[in-house]
Amino acid sequence: MKVFNLLLLTLFLITDINCSQLVEKFTWRELEYSWSTEDAKQEAIRNGNYIPSNNLPLAFDVWRDKIFLTVPRWKTGIASTLSYIENSNNEKSPILHPFPNFSMNQLPNEENEAQQNSIISAFGIRVDECDRLWIVDCGLTNLLGTPKKFRNPSLLVFDLNNDGTLIRRFEIPENQIKADSFFVNVFVDTQKDKCSETFAYIVDIYGFGTVVYDYKQDKSWRVNHNYFSFDPIHGDLNVAGINFQWHDGVFGMALGKLNNDYGDRTLYFHSLASTYEFSVENAVLKNETFSTSPSSALYHSFNFLGSRGLNSQSSSEVYDAITNVIFYTQINRNAIGCWNIKKPYISENQGIVANDDEVLIFPNDLRLDGDGNLYVLSNRMPIFMYSNLDSTSYNYRIMMGKTTEIIKGTPCE
Ligand SMILES: *[C@@H]1O[C@H](CO)[C@@H](O)[C@H](O)[C@H]1NC(C)=O
Ligand SMILES: *[C@@H]1O[C@H](CO)[C@@H](O)[C@H](O)[C@H]1NC(C)=O
Repeated sequence: MKVFNLLLLTLFLITDINCSQLVEKFTWRELEYSWSTEDAKQEAIRNGNYIPSNNLPLAFDVWRDKIFLTVPRWKTGIASTLSYIENSNNEKSPILHPFPNFSMNQLPNEENEAQQNSIISAFGIRVDECDRLWIVDCGLTNLLGTPKKFRNPSLLVFDLNNDGTLIRRFEIPENQIKADSFFVNVFVDTQKDKCSETFAYIVDIYGFGTVVYDYKQDKSWRVNHNYFSFDPIHGDLNVAGINFQWHDGVFGMALGKLNNDYGDRTLYFHSLASTYEFSVENAVLKNETFSTSPSSALYHSFNFLGSRGLNSQSSSEVYDAITNVIFYTQINRNAIGCWNIKKPYISENQGIVANDDEVLIFPNDLRLDGDGNLYVLSNRMPIFMYSNLDSTSYNYRIMMGKTTEIIKGTPCE
């Protein structure tokens, strides 16, 4: 009995240690931007172009000394939809710099022809091995109010080695957009020495499909599969005392290790309103004729890996080659989970590397920095959507931890 108690105590201690392993890197009550002058800021506040409480960071990526952040136009008053902060900044709440510049982040209007090329509303974001920044622009503003359409959902690619020059803009063709489509995330499949041979997977969260973009041919095709759908019994979520129901399909994807020089690798993925994980070989998606012709062979080339268990709904996931672990958000548990890809996908093999009911409320996005660190962005989004964020408390955070350290004592080790 004593031994049993001791064991339990040890378990609790281990759990405790794990909980504190992510450290807070940045935190904000509200987002502030680098205006050219204080007058410019006051003017933007006066005319409604900047409503601080409406600016919620959704997704991010880390590149050298920059952390890029997207702030979708859920509501009005978004000062800049794509911005960055400096990773080496010592301030707790650094101000955001519009990227590539302020002008590209201004909505077009009749008098403003120069802004016809601007970013409308950035959602998913990814920096690839070739120093290119990819974003999905949904093309709509005021999503939680009366949405206004500026253009079709698009993929924008910027060259980070060339002052953020826009090198590609690709509008998703009409015939690949469904009535309910909403493109929210992008995953880039490339190799450092083969930058022109790049594919991007753009997930359609409400249309339950994936648009594959071939960078070399500058064209795309749509892949449909039942596994891109949500699970009807796992759309009931509870976050920070708010109960809500979502039917979000495919959202998170993680690219595994390269298997050979041809770029073959496994793509892991999951829907948000679900507890299941799936995989498909990237060669399947890259093959236009095969992946766009519904067949039993196509259906069976997708794999069901297993379930994480109750309450384990997840938004983003990322594969860490150093530890062979996939890290994923646990939005319904204010936690970050892990799974070692060498083990069967069962709930017993799922670990919790961090869990905190204050700083990890809605951990929406996560990334690796290339130096073995995991970064997590938590943003309390359900409170923002269904209630009101308290502007006197810290609402948005970027947390970090070393992957080799945070998996210690978990089934992912
Ligand atoms: C802003 O960036 C875009 C894209 O790189 C560029 O075309 C434009 O000239 C820049 N505008 C200003 C005012 O710097
Ligand atoms: C695409 O798939 C088809 C049908 O399985 C196959 O015949 C073809 O060789 C594949 N193409 C490539 C480039 O792999």
